[in-house]
Amino acid sequence: MKILAVESSCDDTAAAIVEDGKNIIVSKVASQIEKHKIYGGVVPEVASRNHIESIGALVQSILEESKITFKNLNALAVTYAPGLVGSLLVGVNFIKGLSLATKLPIVPVHHIKAHIASLYLTNHQLKPPFLCLVVSGGHSSIFEVLDYTKIRRVGKTRDDAAGEAFDKVGRKLGFDYPGGVALDLIAGNGDPFSFELPTPLKSETSSYDFSFSGVKTAMINIINQLNQKQQALPLEDLAASFRNCVVEHLVSTFIRASKDLGYKTLGICGGVSANSLLRAHLEAECFKRRWKFFKPEKSLCGDNAAMVACEGYYEFLNNNFAPLNLNAKASENI
Ligand code: KG4
Ligand code: ZN
Repeated sequence: MKILAVESSCDDTAAAIVEDGKNIIVSKVASQIEKHKIYGGVVPEVASRNHIESIGALVQSILEESKITFKNLNALAVTYAPGLVGSLLVGVNFIKGLSLATKLPIVPVHHIKAHIASLYLTNHQLKPPFLCLVVSGGHSSIFEVLDYTKIRRVGKTRDDAAGEAFDKVGRKLGFDYPGGVALDLIAGNGDPFSFELPTPLKSETSSYDFSFSGVKTAMINIINQLNQKQQALPLEDLAASFRNCVVEHLVSTFIRASKDLGYKTLGICGGVSANSLLRAHLEAECFKRRWKFFKPEKSLCGDNAAMVACEGYYEFLNNNFAPLNLNAKASENI
């Protein structure tokens, strides 16, 4: 079964065709990073306008490149939630038009389930149930993946998402948006214990929630103080200390949840799952306990449409089709 999918929930316009939820025939992402860099973050209005400009040509190019015609397709999948509503609406409406023209059914896909599906694309042997840490620019949550189409949230961030915190601190250190990527790179050369940062939700044992605003503010204060004293910023040490604190919080909470809930198969996904320390740290923690650990290949961590097509395959098997009045939803609620 071949599914064509589009993804436009934030600042990447993406289109892909995937066979049987496994084989990526073609997958392209038109990044808008250059357009948002000058503002230091994503401007929703700018994102919607860029999706409008890119989406038609992008879908045309994946069809031409793969030499696949609409007759060879079985369905059209689209991210309908959560995300920036103006951005989501572009993808949803585009797919509706395509469905009207081709008579192909529409499969609505939840963005978080799509990120989780990036794990199936990389690891064909992985099957639910497992516990999954979803960490991106918009989300930081732990989900029980009960089935391919059924997930239950057991923990969430109480303030910023991990990626958001990485980007804000990255920006303060002088890196272009998205700062998380550059911060991860230079952190490798720094001392993670050079700056003392507060441990988020230190005495929390009754929830699997996260919090990143305290450590983000502490970092900003340290940077402001150094700037006031006109001292050069030790970028590598600052980045290493922040990355270590965030990763420690993510890993310790995720491992505690896995122990309590009895999961021995763990996965991570979302843009921040590309973080090298997070990947290595979780790998080591799982190896120590003889638990199984799965991560997406780095190119599938960030937003892409191959993961939407993959989740679309399982939603199709579950008879989840959308009528032509499908609407976009900003909220994460499943
Ligand atoms: O999944 P994604 O592409 O978009 C959302 O759904 O939010 O995630 C983007 C986020 C950005 O905040 C970016 O800084 C972060 O993922 N990110 C990283 C790394 N690579 C991407 N954060 C930390 N370390 C990285 N290596
Ligand atoms: Zn995402």
